[in-house]
Amino acid sequence: MIRTIEWKGDGVHIIDQTALPDELRIIRCEDHERLAKAIECMEIRGAPAIGVAAAMGIALAAKNCNDEKELYEQLWSAYNRLKSTRPTARNLFWALERMRKVWEDCLKESGNGLKEKLINEALAIAEEDVAVCRAIGKNGSELISNGDGVLTHCNAGALACVEHGTALGVIRTACEEGKKFVVYSCETRPLLQGARLTAFELKHEKIPFKLITDNMAAYVMKKGLVKKVIVGADLITRHGDVVNKIGTYGLAVLAKHHNIPFYVAAPLSTIDLNASPESVTIEERSPSEVTHIRGVRIAPEGTEVINPAFDLTPRQLVSAIITEKGVSYPPYDLSIFFRQGNN
Ligand code: MRU
Repeated sequence: MIRTIEWKGDGVHIIDQTALPDELRIIRCEDHERLAKAIECMEIRGAPAIGVAAAMGIALAAKNCNDEKELYEQLWSAYNRLKSTRPTARNLFWALERMRKVWEDCLKESGNGLKEKLINEALAIAEEDVAVCRAIGKNGSELISNGDGVLTHCNAGALACVEHGTALGVIRTACEEGKKFVVYSCETRPLLQGARLTAFELKHEKIPFKLITDNMAAYVMKKGLVKKVIVGADLITRHGDVVNKIGTYGLAVLAKHHNIPFYVAAPLSTIDLNASPESVTIEERSPSEVTHIRGVRIAPEGTEVINPAFDLTPRQLVSAIITEKGVSYPPYDLSIFFRQGNN
């Protein structure tokens, strides 16, 4: 199995997600700037994968620094650059803080072996992501039954993590356990992560699925084809408000109307205990993503657009949150997972 992102001797290797599903192309990033660009233009995307990429970016900055006297300055510069890439993905900031703690702790101990420590921390973040996704899959698979229709949005799969995935990790594990069900994958305009990436993964895994355009969701729910909705998250507040790919909120409203459970699968690293619905930054991306599809203009020239990349689903619409620690139900207070002895 190819990993979405891997630390190799000659740099960080990532699968170019802009080339999928037509081509499985690997990009080699030799420095943190190349990784920052890859995050910005979504060659790598999905909150957990962005976090791992940022951590490896810091590790690359350390590895590439030839003058020990400049190491801290270079680390701060890489930290600030990586931090500016995508404003909503909680895992980006979580991973960068973890890396920062390593060099700050090292500073106190006179800085010995710092480069190695940073590389090891980045590798640990990547390995933990694999284990966490497996645990999410196992915890969530109990919610999937034989004969279900399971609707998902965007791509919360192996491509959004190191491997396995969160929402798609649940689907993968349920399938590994022998459950028989059908996945409905929303295409996810504007960048079509559902059509390009989720469909690619499901096809590769031979998991039965049907691709639908985003505006078909109400129809398939009304028809009784969907028994559960499961999505990933870019950020979750302490009380269970969920920020995820634009269109998620609409799906949650539709699910409520049709009495369909709406599940969210994400690692604890996606939870921001200090965030509130009002404080969340929603990334606004280029208008060309809306006026064009894969480089082809579909709207009249000069058309004005808005392009928020994410929306917020209020906690009242979330039936359960699946993490590596188990399945939580409302009313949510996710801070229990961060209390001493619980992590
Ligand atoms: O803009 P993207 O493709 O990075 O958005 C990705 C999503 O919204 C995913 O659902 C989310 O990051 C969870 S991925 C496990």
